[in-house]
Amino acid sequence: MQEYVDKIQACKELAELEKLRVEIFGKKGVLTSQFALLKDMGEDEKKSFAAKLNASRDELSELLESRKSGLLKGEQELKMKKDAIDITLFNEPVATGALHPVMDVMDGIIEYFVSQNFSLETGPLIEDDFHNFEALNLPKYHPARAMQDTFYLNDNRLLRTHTSPVQIRKMLNSKPPIRMIAPGTVFRRDMDLTHTPMFHQVEGLVVEQGDGVSFANLKSMLEGFLKHMFGDVKVRFRPSFFPFTEPSAEVDISCIFCHGEGCRVCKHTTWLEVLGCGVVDPNVFKAVGYKDVSGYAFGLGVERFAMLLHRVPDLRSLFEGDLRLLEQFK
Ligand code: PHE
Repeated sequence: MQEYVDKIQACKELAELEKLRVEIFGKKGVLTSQFALLKDMGEDEKKSFAAKLNASRDELSELLESRKSGLLKGEQELKMKKDAIDITLFNEPVATGALHPVMDVMDGIIEYFVSQNFSLETGPLIEDDFHNFEALNLPKYHPARAMQDTFYLNDNRLLRTHTSPVQIRKMLNSKPPIRMIAPGTVFRRDMDLTHTPMFHQVEGLVVEQGDGVSFANLKSMLEGFLKHMFGDVKVRFRPSFFPFTEPSAEVDISCIFCHGEGCRVCKHTTWLEVLGCGVVDPNVFKAVGYKDVSGYAFGLGVERFAMLLHRVPDLRSLFEGDLRLLEQFK
């Protein structure tokens, strides 16, 4: 059998090795035919011959196996070498895009509210008087409806001036409990350092049957949110007015730039105004036909958040499409 041991060790290809295996172990293989001789032998001879054959069989099959895995490994290594890519070769800078900072901040806000079980709602950018004003308790003579604040279309419809109409649409389309946010684009005739005619808001609305939803709920929810967004800040609720909430409040955080020293951004007040909110006005529930419910609502400007979080001095620069600005947000 030494002949086959040598042959196996010298073998260089898997196919050739398989041929050898058949030559030894196949039906007409050399070892198989030796085993066949056993049946004509006497007891003693048979015993010692069988032991010898078994030893050869074990040695040869082990050798075949190890040679086989050796050849397989070699073949794989060869294939890997052939298919290898030189990743150090291509060295030109590739132009990549990034999320616009306003969208990025909006995503962060949405992510937080989704984690707090708020559903995500949307509404049309072109609204009618009922959804944008009337149902929100903004009566006909309210100054927010004026030509200088609102973009009107020829058919009396308008570009929505806030995301609050999505509250109305949601309440008309479903029953309480409601726990929603509505992120989206809004439009106002406004243009200066801190205003652009197109900007983004995130609206929030929570409504439940009965009187379980209170200003206290609103307060603790918003405090959690603002600390999540701005870190360890103080949060202050200031009495204010919105037609669709009563009582209403504007919410300030302690200035994240001067931390109480007074600076230009907080206009030396040490506070930054970040959103509006309140308990939903009964007239709003009346407009959508809700009875015996309680709820709160809030609305925030995404650009305002982005400006504060990224220290953008002029809001308008966010919409000029200047790559040098956008490059900084990769
Ligand atoms: N819609 C208000 C605005 O655009 C914000 C707001 C929403 C205030 C909900 C209170 C409650 O200024």
